[in-house]
Amino acid sequence: MTAAYEFPTISSELGRSPEAAIDRNYYSRGGFVPPFPAIDGIEVTRLVREYGSPLFVFSEHDMRSKARRAKEAFGSRYKKVSFAWSYKTNYLNAVCRVFHSEGWLAEVVSDFEYAKARKLGVAGKDIVFNGLDKPRDCLERAMSEDALVQIDNWDELNVIEKIVEKFKKPVQVGIRVWLDAGIRPIWTKFGFALANGEAARAAARVVKNPKLVLHTIHTHIGTYILAPEAYRVATQKLVALREQIFLEDNHLVGCLNLGGGIPSNSLLHGMVRPAEHLIRPIEEYAEAITGVLNKLPEKKKPLLRMELGRHLVDEAGYLLTTVVALKGRDRPTPATTDLSARSAKEWQILQEDAKRGLVVDVGINLLYTAAWFEIGVWPSQLANMPATPTRLYGNLCMALDVIRESVDLPALDVGDILTLHPVGAYNLAQSMQFIAYRPAVVLIGENGKPGLIRRRETLEDIDGAELLPSHLSR
Ligand SMILES: Cc1ncc(COP(=O)(O)O)c(C=O)c1O
Repeated sequence: MTAAYEFPTISSELGRSPEAAIDRNYYSRGGFVPPFPAIDGIEVTRLVREYGSPLFVFSEHDMRSKARRAKEAFGSRYKKVSFAWSYKTNYLNAVCRVFHSEGWLAEVVSDFEYAKARKLGVAGKDIVFNGLDKPRDCLERAMSEDALVQIDNWDELNVIEKIVEKFKKPVQVGIRVWLDAGIRPIWTKFGFALANGEAARAAARVVKNPKLVLHTIHTHIGTYILAPEAYRVATQKLVALREQIFLEDNHLVGCLNLGGGIPSNSLLHGMVRPAEHLIRPIEEYAEAITGVLNKLPEKKKPLLRMELGRHLVDEAGYLLTTVVALKGRDRPTPATTDLSARSAKEWQILQEDAKRGLVVDVGINLLYTAAWFEIGVWPSQLANMPATPTRLYGNLCMALDVIRESVDLPALDVGDILTLHPVGAYNLAQSMQFIAYRPAVVLIGENGKPGLIRRRETLEDIDGAELLPSHLSR
């Protein structure tokens, strides 16, 4: 060996994946990006051939096993648990049906979601109704159908008090509370504040109303909460509020709802360890919550309710996409011929004009979560070459449409298929129709068979709601 040892480049990229770290070290060779050939045993190339590209794919098996493991995690530690599926996370009918068939209630946050749950056959009594803008007619409907409305604010409480005046029997409701569980930023937008006594005052007002029964106190401390400990704090605070309501108003609230927020195995931008090292198993979350409740005397143990979303569906969802163009392929390399492996690698990583780019047939309008999550990108086949830093462009005519600023990929070609994962939580519900039709969605059933659960959009779907005024109609 003649070359002096040089330290590997320390860039934000180094260490993200073992393969990339290997390839950027002067003395190491041989890192390859593992391929992602199949979902639940079905080749991604076959899925694209049969259903087209781009294509969302969901695994029923994954959703059911997450739902069952969650039930077991809580149910094996605490007897009285009820689970609700957070519609906003993904309200495809087939997805909601999977969770309902596993015994999950519906947790909805708007008149649209309420109507959707009812249309899917969910009884009012099996709906938990959150949200901070519930229209009066929808509140009336929900309460007359025995849904559990979780009151968000004083104005909503005013409306509810008016509505129930004409009701013959008392109606069960919940109140939503925001509290400091040690997580920053604190979600102060939803519910009544705990610390300044607002929540206790709202509870007292509900308890004193003969037409209302305070069934639940609820908190949802945020989403993608990496610290199970935060749930212990939140549970302790709800238990203390419940005791205060009991002592002051002689009413023992029957249900504590700890909301959602348990993470999926996904990474935020800038996280440098594999998700498996950072995300605590759901059992630790269950232990944090039930550990507090199990200390209560038997007759004071409440019903525990959880409203999970991303944890159940994120990893079940994939987006298959096809490379439609390459960028930067023919840009000149620097004039110097003696670029060492290390310098060549550094140049690839750091120089804008050296960046290789791939344009794929989806954009960030379908991948809302790409703004803060580092969505995984996997080729469908093993390419026998080392990975280089690549920018993944979406197909929208907007410069900010970049799915991954830099991801290590082998050289790919037009027509190659990539799998983006995990993408099952929020992306579909938050997707925007913009310059293109939104793609079809396929569910791979528990029997291993794929089936269409949403067809690709058509022009009629998109402009069907439009009207032309008479002077423009010809
Ligand atoms: C009230 C409520 N419950 C449950 C959820 C589900 O959250 P997550 O997907 O983080 O589990 C949400 C989503 O933000 C929510 O607002």
